[in-house]
Amino acid sequence: TLSPLERLEQEVFQYASNTSTRRILVAYGTEYGFSREVAKKIAEKISEHFGKDNVSVRVINLLHWEVVDWKRETLLLFACSTTGDGVLPNEAKDFYDGMKRKFGHGELENVNFAVLALGDRGYPHFCRGGKMIEELLKDISGKEGFAARGEIDQEDWPVIDEWINSILTCLDENDFLTCSETSDYLKEALEMKFGNGSANGSLGSTLADTGYSKENPFMAKMLEKRLLTKYELADDKEVLHIELDISGSGIQYTPGDALAVLPSNCPKQVERLLVALGAKGEEQVAGPDGCPISLKNLLLYHLDIKTVKPELLMYLRQCACSDSDLKILDDLVDVEKGGLSKRNEVLREYLAAREVYDVLAEFSSASVDFQKFVDHLRPLSPRYYSISSSSLVDSNHVSITVSVIRYQLFGLDRVGVATTYLADRVDIGDKVPVFLSRNDNFRLPSDGDVPIIMIGPGTGVAPFRAFLLEREKTGSRGRNVLFFGCRHKDRDFLYSSELQAFADREFLDLFVAFSRDQPKKIYVQDIMLEQADFLWSLLQQGAHVYVCGDGAKMANDVHEAWIHIVSSHKPDCRREDALEFMEFLEKNSRYQRDVWI
Ligand code: 2AM
Repeated sequence: TLSPLERLEQEVFQYASNTSTRRILVAYGTEYGFSREVAKKIAEKISEHFGKDNVSVRVINLLHWEVVDWKRETLLLFACSTTGDGVLPNEAKDFYDGMKRKFGHGELENVNFAVLALGDRGYPHFCRGGKMIEELLKDISGKEGFAARGEIDQEDWPVIDEWINSILTCLDENDFLTCSETSDYLKEALEMKFGNGSANGSLGSTLADTGYSKENPFMAKMLEKRLLTKYELADDKEVLHIELDISGSGIQYTPGDALAVLPSNCPKQVERLLVALGAKGEEQVAGPDGCPISLKNLLLYHLDIKTVKPELLMYLRQCACSDSDLKILDDLVDVEKGGLSKRNEVLREYLAAREVYDVLAEFSSASVDFQKFVDHLRPLSPRYYSISSSSLVDSNHVSITVSVIRYQLFGLDRVGVATTYLADRVDIGDKVPVFLSRNDNFRLPSDGDVPIIMIGPGTGVAPFRAFLLEREKTGSRGRNVLFFGCRHKDRDFLYSSELQAFADREFLDLFVAFSRDQPKKIYVQDIMLEQADFLWSLLQQGAHVYVCGDGAKMANDVHEAWIHIVSSHKPDCRREDALEFMEFLEKNSRYQRDVWI
């Protein structure tokens, strides 16, 4: 069995050379593991290009940034993704803040760098995480990147390959790779920090300063699970208020933070997959740490069985033997249509509509090798839920608000992994693996007299419950205004009695849109427009605006409502001016969004 340190060293030094003193550091910031895959690919290609003995490429998660001696590195490559409303992945936030604190302008003058930014055009602020890192590096190195920044829309491997090739060309043309030291300090540094007996032995210890992470979660006891909705009819929502015990953990949270939950898969879904694989489940395969584990346990606890990677289809194409399967697979990855790239619309839609089980069932002529099959699945990732409680009310408890996902696809039951894990597979008294995820981009104004405007339909209301509890506890006197939306007044009005009580105490101005209680839909943005004068006057008083919830449509529609409100109230204001005004608010942390798709 490998120790956590050995596992980490394996990742960092897989493409390192013992003989060469020409060193490159490939650093990644990832939320779901894709940038990590990209970083490994970069390392592999560079190593192949120069020959393994001629260059030493190391790969490091930005989570471990403190171990790196940045002044001793001369060549840095970054692969960094973007999450939520254009923010850095959780594990890269400390790097960003820490480097800013640590190094002044031009202080890392010996560093040459290039950045590959990963993102999704479906979200606002495309590739902003990578752009932020590039800006940071420009500042502290006092120069431009040595190659143009790459920007990748989702998992577009051909474009990633193009960028890597451009880097190889630059490396051929310039000799950045000089280094005076014979042995690599990084190995020793990792051992010092994470080795046996070190004070800071946990691998995730830098995340959110709590010592808990994906690798080392806190086991929080479930104290309460309460249904917040009526859940009887076909279109009813099932939303749970879940309270967990974090006493003794040292976790200190602030409203706006999220709690990450590490779920396991639904056993029924895993069984179905095993049947499609023709496996019993007890077959031994290599686990994430390289140790043998049963196929069933690997699928239950470690792998994402919902997301189909394009590489899995390529693998099935290798093992399929019926002509019809081969024809469909060839058609899907047809070069004319864009091959495996994101430009291949057909492939993208195909993958988006299917889970791993579906592709196995569809291409039943493929007889797969279990190890190779699992090697083509993604790791199971944590799910983040906005915290809906205030630690000032009870620092030992934390609550989240979870909308449970269940639906049918191709005539079969499907489930949201973490939401049904919490709803069905954890009982009161059981422990849930969690860690804290800070969110400094969603914070109450430090001055309690400043008014706040909160827009949070559905479970988007969660952080606002925390805001209200916190503001009441601290005796804040600023006005609190909430726009909440749900389907029906008497079925899915979350926390209705609590919110109503805040309003009755005149602590809250509550506006509610019930979308399905009348023939015509009414949404939060509609009732915002009705309150346009009031909202404008609040902005004049310096109000901070918060939007939480669905980022696919709601956040954009609400943004449009603001544009309308601003342009109809601000003198001589065209649409561009209103957009600029909202950007100004955003830059000044007066317009903060926490949205998801
Ligand atoms: P609907 O499901 O009736 O369309 C919480 O999910 C609430 O948000 C529901 O009332 C839902 O209405 C509503 N909603 C759906 N799309 C929206 C959008 N684009 N903007 C604002 N609210 C929306």
